[in-house]
Amino acid sequence: MKNKILDMSSLDRNLLDQLDAYVASLEGDNEENLIHVLHRAQALFGHLPHNLQLYVARMLNLSGAKVNGVVTFYSFFNEEPTGKYVVSVCMGTACFVKGADKVLQKILELIGTEKNAMSEDGLFTVKDVRCIGACGLAPVVTINDKVYGKVQVGDVESLINRYKGGQ
Ligand code: FES
Repeated sequence: MKNKILDMSSLDRNLLDQLDAYVASLEGDNEENLIHVLHRAQALFGHLPHNLQLYVARMLNLSGAKVNGVVTFYSFFNEEPTGKYVVSVCMGTACFVKGADKVLQKILELIGTEKNAMSEDGLFTVKDVRCIGACGLAPVVTINDKVYGKVQVGDVESLINRYKGGQ
């Protein structure tokens, strides 16, 4: 992430105040608290744009690179706005060998979007992610907090249609 001047003009002051209050309530080491703060920031703002990452870095007295490194490492965090439903297809080894790449392609085709981009109707963002620790269910797809296991290409259409209808 480029080191640029902190421009907060696009960030809602009220939400920043809530984030400030949350940080003030935390005890312990700033670096250890970073993930909690990022979770809270994403819950408040919906995603973690660079200026918000820099704001967090400044609050916790950490480098912007450190914060960005954590944001980009964990698939849970989003730097871009996401659709109402975040569809994550696990590409860990167990899922990959059971055809997760074909499941991913089918999902992208049905939704008509690219990986990591929000669909035009604002309903979906599709991502590929590292192992989520449910290898016994491979291949695994999550949609927001719901986990779907042993997903086959033939299952994808009915799964996505449930959400297209605004489940
Ligand atoms: S490889 Fe997909 S859940 Fe572990």
